[in-house]
Amino acid sequence: MLIGTPPIELPDPPLISGSLSLREWSENDVDSLVKACADPLTARYTSVPIPYTPEDARRFVAFGRSPNALPLAVVSNDDEASVLGAVGLHAVSLSRRRSEIGYWTAPWARRSGVASEALELMSAWALGPLGLERLDLYAEPENLLSQRVAERAGFRKGALVRAGIALRGRRYDVVRFTKLREP
Ligand SMILES: CC(C)(COP(=O)(O)OP(=O)(O)OC[C@H]1O[C@@H](n2cnc3c(N)ncnc32)[C@H](O)[C@@H]1OP(=O)(O)O)[C@@H](O)C(=O)NCCC(=O)NCCS
Repeated sequence: MLIGTPPIELPDPPLISGSLSLREWSENDVDSLVKACADPLTARYTSVPIPYTPEDARRFVAFGRSPNALPLAVVSNDDEASVLGAVGLHAVSLSRRRSEIGYWTAPWARRSGVASEALELMSAWALGPLGLERLDLYAEPENLLSQRVAERAGFRKGALVRAGIALRGRRYDVVRFTKLREP
């Protein structure tokens, strides 16, 4: 945390698309987080702790926004309490106008466009009102679903970054996908 720097402000108005919206995580989401993060795909391709305990979820919710991170819950427009997934900015540099972005969809909400819609919504805001010029996301070469999500949300496939991410003590090659602010 950068001392004295305020956390990134929440989107105002809140981000809403056809069937979902993005909001801050709350204590009420602990059960959903524990259930979603117990999923083997989420555990494999993201940095969530294994096993994922209610204490991990509480810590995640309490940490919340910071000057260089904005984690948001993806929820249903019909029921704000119904968690569909996660989308978040991390390694944000407002001064350099760039950030990384990541996402997962809860197993019970997959294959209905949630990740693509949430990524599109968050990236349009980050490259618009938030003022960033470049967003990067990293997907493992075998994670073709995530790559489809990235391309569907307008990210362009770039270089293979050797040993580009570290997950639980092991480094993995990743493909970089980038979306730039439109001139
Ligand atoms: C990758 C992931 C985020 C996709 O989430 P999702 O909400 O199911 O994705 P969407 O519904 O937006 O799907 C996007 C595309 O993949 C297709 N798709 C999604 N899941 C699929 C599946 N299991 N089998 C075949 N196609 C699938 C969709 O039909 C859509 O394809 P289209 O462009 O041809 O229409 C989800 O599987 C997940 O959470 N994985 C674990 C965490 C992870 O990998 N995060 C990303 C790290 S880089």
